[in-house]
Amino acid sequence: MRTVLVTGGLGYIGSHTVVELQQKDYEVVIVDNLSNSNEKVLDSIWKITGVKPHFLKADLSLADQCAKVFELFTEIEGVINFAAFKAVGESCDKPVEYYRNNLNIILNLLEQMIARGIEYFVQSSSCTVYGEPETLPVREDSPIQRATSPYGNTKQMAEDILRFASDTGKVKAMALRYFNPIGAHESALIGELPNGVPNNLMPYITQTAAGIRERLTVFGNDYPTPDGTCIRDFIHVVDLAKAHVVAMDRFFEHGNKAAFEYFNIGTGRGYSVLEVIRSFEKTTGVKLNYVFGPKRHGDIIRIWADTALASEELKWKAEKSLDQMTSSAWKWQLHLKG
Ligand code: UFG
Repeated sequence: MRTVLVTGGLGYIGSHTVVELQQKDYEVVIVDNLSNSNEKVLDSIWKITGVKPHFLKADLSLADQCAKVFELFTEIEGVINFAAFKAVGESCDKPVEYYRNNLNIILNLLEQMIARGIEYFVQSSSCTVYGEPETLPVREDSPIQRATSPYGNTKQMAEDILRFASDTGKVKAMALRYFNPIGAHESALIGELPNGVPNNLMPYITQTAAGIRERLTVFGNDYPTPDGTCIRDFIHVVDLAKAHVVAMDRFFEHGNKAAFEYFNIGTGRGYSVLEVIRSFEKTTGVKLNYVFGPKRHGDIIRIWADTALASEELKWKAEKSLDQMTSSAWKWQLHLKG
């Protein structure tokens, strides 16, 4: 059995990835500082897979705590890094905290890995690196644009750090550039647990439908898109999670073609905000209270992925439909209400 360290493994994408790894017979060590997650997720993972992952509460941005993880779990052979602060708006108010946290985590992990001969690193990156793209769909060789937030910049810098670290020949790294993950595990035992008022569309929709929020504001309806609302490549979080298993398999089977590789992880299809709302209303039968409001500063108008490289190289493809995304998100919201 291969052992993989999953940092931030109790978070939204992390927990779904742990489930998929365990179901493919990986042994998982989760490290999480619980700053935006809950230890109860461990039991939910256990319920789904029948296996309780190893867990350690630690702050990986601190070098001594990071070293401790590797001292305790000497069997670790690869790392998947989800541990990061991730709120775009907050990062503009707290740039220093964002750089310090998100980058120190990577530097500390790399330091430990290089010292111990652990080679494989999968990094959660983001389509935010492309900014507002000039041509669509975006390919991996589409230009990287100047970041519009410290959060986005930490994703770009993380890729640069990994590229140069890989040049030494001591580590092999893969950056997975996620588009917009939504939805939840079909068991409804794990899903997104936003802290406070959600920033993102899907949790805002489900919380509005559940009566926790009064109404959803759709940010802008006069964009140059068919229905005037922004377009994103929404991807089911379970499809996204599976891409990480495939990435790790690629390393262990020596399938990687370069020391540093990066892939778009999306569906290749864009849906507008209104299309997501319609899908939600159709699959759940719940009428959503929403109004159109002003545009949100910094929003990208349209983006979706070219998925050819992931499909050719990773033999991975997103399989789940938008309706499966919105209905599973609702099932999770109902489970939370309990
Ligand atoms: N939206 C609304 N109302 C809301 C929330 C969102 O209309 O209450 C709209 C946004 O304006 C946008 C779309 O829904 O058009 C998607 O917004 P999200 O906040 O869900 O997602 P973003 O695409 O803005 O952000 C996501 C991730 C970021 C990442 C970014 C990359 O949350 O971490 O994609 O583009 F950086």
